[in-house]
Amino acid sequence: MSADRRKERTPPGRRTWARGRASAGSGPAIAPFFVGAILVLGAGFVAWRLLAPPDAFETVAVSVPALSFEAQVGAQAFNANCAQCHGVNAAGTDKGPPLVHAIYNPGHHADIAFVLAARQGARQHHWSFGDMPPQPQLKDGEITGIIRYIRELQQANGIETKAHTM
Ligand code: HEC
Repeated sequence: MSADRRKERTPPGRRTWARGRASAGSGPAIAPFFVGAILVLGAGFVAWRLLAPPDAFETVAVSVPALSFEAQVGAQAFNANCAQCHGVNAAGTDKGPPLVHAIYNPGHHADIAFVLAARQGARQHHWSFGDMPPQPQLKDGEITGIIRYIRELQQANGIETKAHTM
C-alpha cells in the first residue's frame, strides 16, 4: 500500500512541470542577448547603407587622347545628345552605361549598333538603367562623328576589338 501512495504523490507529469518552470526562469537572461543582436545587426545595416554608393551603377575613369577633327565634332554632338545618360567622356552616369567599356568594343557592338541605337533606341538588355529612347534629332554626319569619338576614346583606354562570342 505505501509504495502505491508514494507513486501517487509524485506523478511523472508533476516532475515535468517542475522542470519546465526551472528552464522558464532562464528566459529573462536570454532577452538582452536578443536585443543586443538586433542592435548590432541594425548598426551594421546602417553602416552598410552609409558606406555603399547611393545607387549601384558603373562609371569608369576615362583618359581623353588627342582627338581627330572628326572625333572633336563628334564629341560636341555626343555632349549635346548622349552625355546626359552616357556621361562626360562616355564614362557612364546613373542613367546610362559607360560606352568606354569592353562590352562596346567594335567586335561586340559594331558601328552599326551606334547608328541603330541613335535611330531606334535600345531595349534594356545589358544593364538595368531601362530602355534608351531614340535620338531622331541627330543627322547622319553627327552619328558618324560620335562613333569616331567613342572609338578613339575606347582605343586610348585599352578597349580592344574582341570577336563576339555570345
Ligand atoms: C535617356 C538616356 C540615354 C540617352 C540620351 C542616350 N542613351 Fe544610349 N543607352 C542608354 C541606356 C540606358 C543604354 C543601355 C541599354 C542596355 O543595354 O541595357 C544605352 C545603350 C546604348 C548603346 C548600346 C546599344 C546596344 O545595341 O546594346 C549605344 C551604342 C548607345 N547607347 C549610344 C548612344 C548614343 C550615341 C547616344 C546619343 C546620340 C545615346 N546613346 C543617348 C541610355 C541613353
